[in-house]
Amino acid sequence: METPCSLSAKFEGSFAYYTVKDRMPQILTKVIDTVHRNKNKFLELHGEEGIEAEKKALSFFSKLRNEMQTDKPILPLTDEWPDTQIWNQYLDYQKTLLSDGEEPSWFRSPWLYVECYLYRRIQEGLWLSPPVSEYDVFRDVKNQSFFQSQQAILALCSHLQEIKGKVNVLSNDEVRDEIYKLVQVSLWGNRCDLSISGGQDNSQKTSILSSLEDFQAFILVDDMNSVWNILSKNRDGNTESRTRVDIVLDNAGFELVTDLVLADAIMSLGLATEVHFHGKVMPWYVSDTTKHDFDWTVQQCLAINNKWMSKCGQTWKENLKKRRWVYHEHLFWTLPHEYCTMAEVAPDLYTELQKSDLVFFKGDLNYRKLTGDRKWDFIVPFSQALRSFHPAPLCSVRTLKADVQVGLQTGVGERLTATDTDWLISGKYGIIQFSPVV
Ligand code: F6P
Ligand code: MG
Repeated sequence: METPCSLSAKFEGSFAYYTVKDRMPQILTKVIDTVHRNKNKFLELHGEEGIEAEKKALSFFSKLRNEMQTDKPILPLTDEWPDTQIWNQYLDYQKTLLSDGEEPSWFRSPWLYVECYLYRRIQEGLWLSPPVSEYDVFRDVKNQSFFQSQQAILALCSHLQEIKGKVNVLSNDEVRDEIYKLVQVSLWGNRCDLSISGGQDNSQKTSILSSLEDFQAFILVDDMNSVWNILSKNRDGNTESRTRVDIVLDNAGFELVTDLVLADAIMSLGLATEVHFHGKVMPWYVSDTTKHDFDWTVQQCLAINNKWMSKCGQTWKENLKKRRWVYHEHLFWTLPHEYCTMAEVAPDLYTELQKSDLVFFKGDLNYRKLTGDRKWDFIVPFSQALRSFHPAPLCSVRTLKADVQVGLQTGVGERLTATDTDWLISGKYGIIQFSPVV
C-alpha cells in the first residue's frame, strides 16, 4: 500500500522526536569557539571589517544557543538565499501539524526538522556577517579527520591499485567479491561522522579491510545480491552503452575516500561508464561533503608522497576532467524535507536521479530523509517506507545512528532491543538496503 506523501496533506504516522538538549548545543558551542579562535585570521584577511563580522556572528550564535536551550519558537530565516522562502514555507507547514495556536519550538518539533534548521541557522549567522559569509566553520575538523585517517586511506588506496592491476584476470565472482568488500568499507566508513561525536575526533585509525569479516555479523540487512544484479548487467552487457551510478555523498574525511575508491572500482571493473556524486551546497551536519571538501580531498590524495594514494588522486582528477565523474550540487540536500517530496519540491533533481541505473545513498541522515524519520515498524518493507520516492533503483549504505529502521526480518528488532539498548543509535550496526523502482 502506498502511503501518501505531500506537503499539503497531513501524514498519518508520527515523526521521531528526540531531545535536543545534548548534542546540538555542544555543536553550537564548538562553532562559537571556532569563530572566536579565528579572529586573527579574519583580521588578517579583512582588517577591522573582519573583526566586526566576527563579533556579529558570535552574537548571532549566542542568541541562537539561548533560543535553543530555552525552547523558544522556531523563527523564520531572515537572509536572502535561494532556499530562504522554501524554509519559511516549511515552517508554515510545521505549524499545520500542531494544534491551533501552538508554535513550533525547538523541543516541540520533529528532530529531523530542528536539527537541519540548526545547521541552516548557523549558515544564516555567517551569511548575515560579511565578509566572513563564505567561511566554513567545520573545515578544520573535516581536514583533521582526513589526516588522522591517513593510514587507513593508504591501505585502501593500495588495495584499489592491486585490484586494478588484475582487472583482466578477475572472474565475475571475484569482481563481485571485490565490489562487495568495497561496499562494506564504504558502509563502515560511515561510522566516522563528526556530528554524532559532537565534532570530536572520530577518524578511522587502522585499515578496515582486515576487519570486514568480524563486522559482517553487524550488517542487519544485506541486499548486496540485488545491487550486484544491477551492476553486473553492465559488465555483461554491450560495452558501447552508457551506464550510470550515482552516489549521494555523506561525510568528508575517511568516508569520502571510501566512496571515491568504490566509484573508481565500479568503473575500472566495467560496472559503470560514469559516476555522479551529489554533495551539499553549504557546511552541513559538521562533516558532510561540500564541493570544496571534494576537490580538496582529490587534491590531497594527488599531492601526497605515497605512490598508491597519489595514483588514486591522479585518476580521480582525470575522471573529473573527462567528465566520467560528475559532481552535482543541489540545495534540496540541505532542506529539511523528506525525500518523498523531492518530485514536488525539486523536480529537476528527481529527473536527474531518474537517469541513473543505481543510486547509493550514504549515511544516516539520508536514511532518515528516505524514510521520513517516522516511527515505522521494523518489518515495514523499505520500498513502502520510501513512499513515492522511486527515481531509480537505490541502495542505502548506512550505519544506524538514529532510531528509524525498516525492512528487518520479523523479531530481529525486538531481539536487539532486548539485548543491546543502543543498537539503533550507536553506529555499531549497518545496512546495505536496496529498493527497486516500484
Ligand atoms: O546522531 C546524530 C546525528 O546528527 C544524526 O542526526 C544524523 O542522523 C547523524 O548524526 C549524522 O550521520 P551521518 O553522517 O551518517 O548522516
Ligand atoms: Mg554526515
